[in-house]
Amino acid sequence: MDQKSTTYTLPAKLYHENDFFKVERDKIFSNEWQWVGRSELVKNPGQFITAEITNIPILIIRDSNNILRGFHNVCRHRASKILLDKEGKCKSLVCPYHGWRYGLNGKLQNSPYFYGAEDFNPDNFSLFPIKVSEEFGLVFVNINVDSESLTSWLGPFTEMVNRVYKSNFVFHNEITFDVNANWKTYVDNYQEGYHIPLIHPQLNKDVVWQEYTLINTDSTSIHSVPPRSGSHEPGSFGWHFPNIIFNAYGRGAVFQRIEPLKPKWCRVVYNLFRPSDVSEEDFESNEGQYQKEVSIEDQKIVPLVQQNLETGIYQAGPLSPKYESGLAYFHQLLMERIGIGE
Ligand code: FES
Ligand SMILES: [Fe+2]
Repeated sequence: MDQKSTTYTLPAKLYHENDFFKVERDKIFSNEWQWVGRSELVKNPGQFITAEITNIPILIIRDSNNILRGFHNVCRHRASKILLDKEGKCKSLVCPYHGWRYGLNGKLQNSPYFYGAEDFNPDNFSLFPIKVSEEFGLVFVNINVDSESLTSWLGPFTEMVNRVYKSNFVFHNEITFDVNANWKTYVDNYQEGYHIPLIHPQLNKDVVWQEYTLINTDSTSIHSVPPRSGSHEPGSFGWHFPNIIFNAYGRGAVFQRIEPLKPKWCRVVYNLFRPSDVSEEDFESNEGQYQKEVSIEDQKIVPLVQQNLETGIYQAGPLSPKYESGLAYFHQLLMERIGIGE
């Protein structure tokens, strides 16, 4: 490595301060595409899923013309959430508070017993739209309606996924963990293989961690690590800013996202996919178990880091130019989006 001066981590306070969490919500999570669910859950008219992006409730629903639409999950009357279930099917969107009813296209259809004033025009009270798009059989949303297309946003991430993610893959299962750590503490951990030998004993037997390499470009980090002989564990896999991850996993693949819940909490969601000719039991007892073990190992160490980032003792630490360039790249992108970039 020919890097002259040391790159440092982000200041520790950015990993727990409330104010910075709000800045991230407005500058990052309200502008970047977010993976929120699977397309198969919203295949038919009336089917919906709901999600929250840094506590901003949203809903995605297929309308009667088969168009997939996304809205803020907020009633235009007095701001109640409209859909409360995680997924389901409905004929129209009825607010549980005072019964205002919206069509699947978001238009206000009925406001019962409201007796609006003369100037009340229901056309002015449609649901607030957000952008929706689909790729890899997944639903993505962007709160910023003027944002770039999902295809252009994904960039080289798409090719990296498509090298592994085959059309015969079927959904295996979803695993969710709430972790006592800022979302960035978790992403930092994903962005390096330097911790493999001490944290992941089994993975360490399957890959040559010393030969771990990263290509950081177009808001994406493509990771590669050669397998040891006899192992079929990971080839290339990667991350796209800010919080989506794709891993080749034995015979299957996994999409992962790190949802920011609160400044000191994140939710890690995995969706595992297996080839259709591999049985559920077979995949679960091999790749499924393996994935769980690796995640549990990460979840033991990450909160220990988080605790120390909050004490005020540690301010920032040095990054390895060889093995931690993924963190440096992540931090650079984050600061650029926030407007404190180089
Ligand atoms: S808040 Fe939705 S109907 Fe009143
Ligand atoms: Fe790890």
